[in-house]
Amino acid sequence: MGSPPRPSYVIAISAYISWTVWFLFGHIRDFIRDVFWASKARKDYAPIRQSYEDFYTRRVFYRLHDCFNRPIASAPSAWVDVLHRTPVNEDKPLELTGDQSKVLNLSSYNYLGFAASDEYCTPRVLDTLDRLGWGACCSRSEAGTTDKHVELEETVAEFLGVEAAITFPMGFATNAFNIPVIVGKGCLIISDSLNHASIVNGSRGSGAKIKVFKHDNMTHLEQILRTSIAEGQPRTRRPWKKILIIVEGIYSMEGEICSNLKTIVALKKKYKAYLFLDEAHSIGAIGETGRGATEHAGVNPRDVDVMMGTFTKSFGSCGGYIGGSKQLIKCIRNHCPAHLHATSMSPPAAEQVISALRLIMNKAGNGRGPQKIRTLRDNSNYVRKRLIDLGLEVLGDFDSPVMPVMIYNPGKLALFSRLCFRDGVAVVMVGFPATTLVNSRTRLCISAAHTKEDLDYALEVIEDVADQLVMRYRPKDHKKERKVRSAASHMMKAKAGG
Ligand SMILES: Cc1ncc(COP(=O)(O)O)c(C=O)c1O
Ligand SMILES: *[C@@H]1O[C@H](CO)[C@@H](O)[C@H](O)[C@H]1NC(C)=O
Ligand SMILES: *[C@@H]1O[C@H](CO)[C@@H](O)[C@H](O)[C@H]1NC(C)=O
Ligand SMILES: *[C@@H]1O[C@H](CO)[C@@H](O)[C@H](O)[C@H]1NC(C)=O
Repeated sequence: MGSPPRPSYVIAISAYISWTVWFLFGHIRDFIRDVFWASKARKDYAPIRQSYEDFYTRRVFYRLHDCFNRPIASAPSAWVDVLHRTPVNEDKPLELTGDQSKVLNLSSYNYLGFAASDEYCTPRVLDTLDRLGWGACCSRSEAGTTDKHVELEETVAEFLGVEAAITFPMGFATNAFNIPVIVGKGCLIISDSLNHASIVNGSRGSGAKIKVFKHDNMTHLEQILRTSIAEGQPRTRRPWKKILIIVEGIYSMEGEICSNLKTIVALKKKYKAYLFLDEAHSIGAIGETGRGATEHAGVNPRDVDVMMGTFTKSFGSCGGYIGGSKQLIKCIRNHCPAHLHATSMSPPAAEQVISALRLIMNKAGNGRGPQKIRTLRDNSNYVRKRLIDLGLEVLGDFDSPVMPVMIYNPGKLALFSRLCFRDGVAVVMVGFPATTLVNSRTRLCISAAHTKEDLDYALEVIEDVADQLVMRYRPKDHKKERKVRSAASHMMKAKAGG
């Protein structure tokens, strides 16, 4: 855990060779194009895209862009209908062919299976649609607050176990516009190195000084806290106005649960800093009753100053929330532009979250909500264990429904997606620039909506594809471990003998 996985030298070199071949051929083709065909740029104009970005998109990304943005034609449930497109061609956009196929969806954040029709949620959402319409057509601070918005905020606060909550129509904007409300110039943000883009965006927009600590490394976090407090603000050396630590409940590219939350709370109390916890992927997905990272780590949610999360994953809706003290929520209500100047959440989307929360809190549905949470945990642990047994390099922790599997080589990345898709399994690929050049991976997301047969089918396909692509990187580690262990046992024996 901690730093990103490091491939063996052979794997890293093969990945670099793939990239080199792509770049080399790309440049040769560009050279030929420029010599024999006039450049398409208008004379005397600077190119609208930077040349490196443009080169990367055309000559590298377009070779595999069939593996991304696949259009779908059904609800994002356990199985989805994916539309077929014309084969990759660097010079032409992909076009729909009119065919489609049903594939197992391992790419969805639909952790609890609420994304498709549900016997409890869907009729209520339709009722709300009849009564209140699609959109409130106004910001929350003007005429855009309906009874559903009020009910949603009360339900979220109750579920989280905090004094009050406020909701927004978009998860990304919840971070991007609220972090600048909470901190500003003269303040310090201490951010985990793997935090999501929305947190980075909000932090940069706030004007506060940002320091990044090594992912999940408590020693480094404390070091930064201590030296920052001792040194004060740059140049003036005045004390910081406020210090805010920002971490996530589950890191979505690594599948890791923030297991050190207890230590972080202890540190924030010791140094009198504030704590912001982004539970986009963890709320509803982990903890005995689905209450997320705080429940998983045994932390009182009231010890976290800002509880942030989204409705786009476990709840199958859209939007985000902030939970915390009455004072904090009042301040956000009065100052956050996403509350004051942006249209409020669609009322049927709000009802979807209310219904899902009522099920999860077991206020309706005869235990169906808690059952979903148990099923998600069992499904996740079952798949994780099987993938590890297959010898694949799986990242993240048990109980986490997010399972990145390392592929390393960019050529294998595209093939993995295409072969899985051919055999009826849809997976998400993550490569450069989202990861480093040699850290390409696929990310499997497990849902409570998957049956045991679904998962067995997926595992069979993945095993087959992994064999074809020589992806069982782990057995070597086993051997290494065994060597270390046997060396250790030799030493023990030697000690015992001597
Ligand atoms: C940690 C984290 N925060 C915020 C967001 C943004 O949420 P949304 O997709 O609902 O806008 C995401 C989305 O993936 C996320 O992973
Ligand atoms: C699976 O569902 C998610 C949303 O929950 C969707 O984004 C994704 O596109 C779906 N499937 C495929 C094949 O991409
Ligand atoms: C937020 O992200 C957008 C898109 O990447 C970028 O244009 C913008 O400058 C960012 N804002 C800040 C304050 O970093
Ligand atoms: C954590 O950070 C400290 C200080 O930078 C470093 O010495 C230590 O090796 C790191 N620990 C891990 C597990 O990476």
